[in-house]
Amino acid sequence: MSDTHTPTLDNLSHETRAFAPSAEFVANAIGKPEQYEAANADRLGYWAETARKVLTWDTDFTEVLDWSGAPVAKWFADGKVNAAYNALDRHVENGLGDRVAIHFEGEPGDTRSYTYSQLTTAVKQAANAFESLGVAKGDRVAVYLPMIPEAVITMLACARIGAIHSVVFGGFSADALRSRVDDAEAKLVVTADGTWRRGKPSALKPAVDEALAAPGHTVQNVLVVKRNGQDVTWNEKLDKWWSETVDSASTEHTAVGHESEHPLFVLYTSGTTGKPKGIIHTTGGYLVQAAATHRDTFDLHPETDVFWCTADIGWVTGHTYVTYAPLVNGATQVMYEGTPDSPHQGRWWEIVEKYGVTILYTAPTAIRTFMKWGRQIPDSYDLSSLRLLGSVGEPINPEAWMWYREVIGSNNGPNGEKKEHPTPIVDTWWQTETGAHMIAPLPGVTATKPGSAQTPVPGITVDVVDEMGVSVGNGEGGFLVIRDPWPAMLRGIWGDMDRYKETYWSRFEGMYFAGDGAKKDEDGDIWLLGRVDDVMNVSGHRLSTTEIESSLVAHPYVAEAAVVGAKDETTGEAVVAFVILQIEPAEGEDVVATLRAHVGKDIGPIAKPRHILVVPELPKTRSGKIMRRLLKDVAEGREVGDSTTLADSTVMTQIADSMRK
Ligand code: WT7
Repeated sequence: MSDTHTPTLDNLSHETRAFAPSAEFVANAIGKPEQYEAANADRLGYWAETARKVLTWDTDFTEVLDWSGAPVAKWFADGKVNAAYNALDRHVENGLGDRVAIHFEGEPGDTRSYTYSQLTTAVKQAANAFESLGVAKGDRVAVYLPMIPEAVITMLACARIGAIHSVVFGGFSADALRSRVDDAEAKLVVTADGTWRRGKPSALKPAVDEALAAPGHTVQNVLVVKRNGQDVTWNEKLDKWWSETVDSASTEHTAVGHESEHPLFVLYTSGTTGKPKGIIHTTGGYLVQAAATHRDTFDLHPETDVFWCTADIGWVTGHTYVTYAPLVNGATQVMYEGTPDSPHQGRWWEIVEKYGVTILYTAPTAIRTFMKWGRQIPDSYDLSSLRLLGSVGEPINPEAWMWYREVIGSNNGPNGEKKEHPTPIVDTWWQTETGAHMIAPLPGVTATKPGSAQTPVPGITVDVVDEMGVSVGNGEGGFLVIRDPWPAMLRGIWGDMDRYKETYWSRFEGMYFAGDGAKKDEDGDIWLLGRVDDVMNVSGHRLSTTEIESSLVAHPYVAEAAVVGAKDETTGEAVVAFVILQIEPAEGEDVVATLRAHVGKDIGPIAKPRHILVVPELPKTRSGKIMRRLLKDVAEGREVGDSTTLADSTVMTQIADSMRK
């Protein structure tokens, strides 16, 4: 495991503002103070009761938690449950078939709405089609799709038949797709011809073709959704059109209950080493915590709310709060394909107004982008339908939090009218590994503080500990840990259980180490301080410094590389790379452009370094470890800190010199 650094305490907030919910909000709130009391008094009893409340079980469970195989938990192990039945069929059986499940808004402005009945039928057809292609329970299906309803349909069809989906973000490269397909040994790939990006068709299928060009993979079929009618190269052996395979499949399909611990999905995320980790989530516990947190944190009233989570299904936020929780809870949600600035910078607010969105869940990086574009844009729309706002993905700075509250959460119409009570804001801390919210206010209970996720959700026990694993006092900082197993926790890393134990359970005895620094304020509320390991957070997306370094050194020009995340006003962090060249590039060649393109091809455009600096040396300790802390100082334009442990003390001067040139 890589070394961790102690979180910097100098950026601790001295925020003292707190906003209590209005009496009106409290009166109708779903999440109640008694939930904390019930969970504190009997944690497992609380989860058992919640499990029976939020899900319909085919077979009820008798044991809540089996922790005898720690750190691999079993929740509700002898219960059986079908995720797709819970997300779809049961709502239709309960007379809610005509309720809209998804309002889809395509980037070019095309729209489609699916009622629960229609979505159920679509998923049954996809389940039948997948089965006819030989996909059976336990098989893996790679999903490489844009934000279109077929993405949700594919995931739920897999869940229905017990196949394990592995969604690969559409912005990842062919190489990244191939390595994930290989690691999970996927049998089927579901993709699309392309998607729309800023008014132009953008292709997806060529990346699949490229990924599967070399032999040795396990894929038997590629299902292709026609999204924008682009020309595609057709591989007769593998490719089938979705329209011909799924749309003609039978609309009858009976969902059977799967074991609670049956894997639901694998989702790859960046860690501290070069190779992404396939995080494994199972069915029962994951769905329970997903649905319960969606209901409580967002104060969901499914009969009247219109929920919009802006995350792509390529990330865990899209899994939990687009595909699973809203549908399990019978909510109506909006799904949007494109970027916030297409065809204009008011597109999101236009969507909020059009569908009457009541709950909006997005990332600080988006909020800061809107701040930069100016408040006159959202001010010219009617956002009065909004009644709750959420944030996720990285620490939200108090300034962005206040802007969110004042500009978005107070908007009561385009004439500059203000809401009497601005909407509550819930900052939600969690991870791919945790599966669902872990730290978040209950909006009808907690007086919220700008910039803090504050308090563990009912039934979750988190703590902040020092280097030795001892709980710190209020007003002190340290490392965020989770003390007790939780229902939606990961069950391991695909194909590498040793790495699972090593990464999360070896730093502190008997506690899950999250990789984040945190602080407890004077009230005991938790403030997240960012990663303490070699993981960067760019626009709420996780990137590994080591993964990008490996990519750079794989290029023939590069002898050595060091990557750091430098603070960025909008994206949180930006990737900055320092490289030592081993070959003199050709006359007139732009090395930086070449290397940026190389990383983009290797991993994906989001991993492209913002800046690449060619340097003569890298700062290393006597044991050869790169001192990224010093490079971060350089990248952030600060005076370079303590460099006394460097093997060669002149290195930083050399770097500074080459930067001046
Ligand atoms: C890392 C997990 C959870 C879905 C999106 C990211 C950071 C996430 C917050 C928050 C401060 C946050 C942490 C965490 N993070 N939410 N509300 N406040 N930091 O999932 O890609 O697995 O990344 O994102 O550093 O460890 P992910």
